[in-house]
Amino acid sequence: MIDHKKIHTVGLTIRPAMTEDLDEIQKIYNHFVRTSVYTMDLEEKSYADMVEWLDSHSERFPIYVGIRDDKVIGIVSLSKWAERKGFYPSCEISIYLSPCRKAQGYGNNLLQYMIQIAKKNKFTTIVSFITSTNKLAKNLAIKNNFIFVGTIKQVGFKFNRSIDLDIYQLMIHQTTGNTAYQKIDNALSHYDWYMNYRKNRLERSDYLKYLLQFKQKLMDTGLSEDEIHLSTRFSLNDEQTVDYILNDLRNRKMISSVDYPKDKFDLLAQKISQEFIHKSCITYIFPEESRLLYALTYITKPETMLFLGSYYGYWAIWATILLKETNGVAYLVDTDQHMLALAEKNMKKFQCDSVVKYINEDAIQFLAREKIPHDFIVLDPEGPKEGADPDLLDKAIYYPMMKAAHPYLTKDGIILCHNILLTNPILEDPYFAKKIEYNNIQFSKFLPFMMEHYTAGVWYDTTEGVGVFSQKK
Ligand SMILES: C[S@@+](CC[C@H](N)C(=O)[O-])C[C@H]1O[C@@H](n2cnc3c(N)ncnc32)[C@H](O)[C@@H]1O
Repeated sequence: MIDHKKIHTVGLTIRPAMTEDLDEIQKIYNHFVRTSVYTMDLEEKSYADMVEWLDSHSERFPIYVGIRDDKVIGIVSLSKWAERKGFYPSCEISIYLSPCRKAQGYGNNLLQYMIQIAKKNKFTTIVSFITSTNKLAKNLAIKNNFIFVGTIKQVGFKFNRSIDLDIYQLMIHQTTGNTAYQKIDNALSHYDWYMNYRKNRLERSDYLKYLLQFKQKLMDTGLSEDEIHLSTRFSLNDEQTVDYILNDLRNRKMISSVDYPKDKFDLLAQKISQEFIHKSCITYIFPEESRLLYALTYITKPETMLFLGSYYGYWAIWATILLKETNGVAYLVDTDQHMLALAEKNMKKFQCDSVVKYINEDAIQFLAREKIPHDFIVLDPEGPKEGADPDLLDKAIYYPMMKAAHPYLTKDGIILCHNILLTNPILEDPYFAKKIEYNNIQFSKFLPFMMEHYTAGVWYDTTEGVGVFSQKK
């Protein structure tokens, strides 16, 4: 069954294509033959061609049309992308929208609908071939979790010029690929200079030069400017990075040991990367940041953890898995009920549900009312970008939230905060200079508050930056 509820149809009816639609389909398709390189057909299709095309499709490889005001405004189809039978688990998707209906969300509706059909038809992967200049189609693919596979250079010729073709694919039953880390790593791993940087064979500052040189190209494959620059902050070995942080925390008398079960962590990391459900969300928790939370939870063995701005539970899962063993409890607090619902789904999938309480409320109000004693805070809320009270916006919300939580944190308690990005390993990258200036303003009340109330506080250059605060032991 197709889950119709999931598809936001904005007044669009989607149904299988029929012979009586062929006139309108022909008009839409031939428009693109004449005017664009979106299809590499050079000659317009006749009505007989369209009939043959309709007949060549089947229940496994269907054609659907989107109808609005009784007119066909879009076509989406699955086709064999290769004739050889061994390719039976894959299909190619094509979408054409009436030219006056572009960029109104209909392409997204048709694509999401067809992804559901492809799931039902048990395909494992959908491929999409998009001419490199077709930015709208590429953005649509990326938005729907297709990953960029590569470019076939000069594979076509139309309108007196060579055409490059970008290949995208959606791994239907694979739930991975939706951490920002995987997205960035995937897009960059086509380049030798990225691989050399990852292997520590290229200095970060030289790596930055390559990134800037390829910036536009990378943005065309769907990476944002932030994601491109964040790669310069990647930990090249997350185990060593976390060892460094743990040793530093111990030297500062913030934790008493640095040991955690690394083999168990590796097995968990593999399971989470294969099984965690991201749906259409993306997390900017990077591998060293997940590992750090796992290690700190293992070392400090908290009884009650608060995840303030828990989002869909991706950071929390690295801790709740351990709370099961120590009979601890975690409160996942978030104002977004959909994020909490996805968190709950994941906690159930990883059998952590019994140790988690889901709180769909403003964390500041919840903390003030419930006054829950706790010994570990994971702080990662993000207030709205605009609003009357500047203390509640964006990351400035850390201050009122900590003010509400602080009285109930036990003496031995520890606070791990995300996005404390205040220093930059590559000084000459102006991108981060600007971001650091912004963050200093965001945290202008939070940091003094933390310094006043905690005897120890430190932040580290993880990819997104983390801060750790506690009372000195
Ligand atoms: C966008 S997430 C942070 C993402 C995280 N850094 C990551 O990459 O995985 C921030 C979360 O804080 C939640 N949030 C914002 N204000 C909140 C509040 N006052 N109380 C609880 N949660 C809040 C948002 O709903 C959102 O899910």
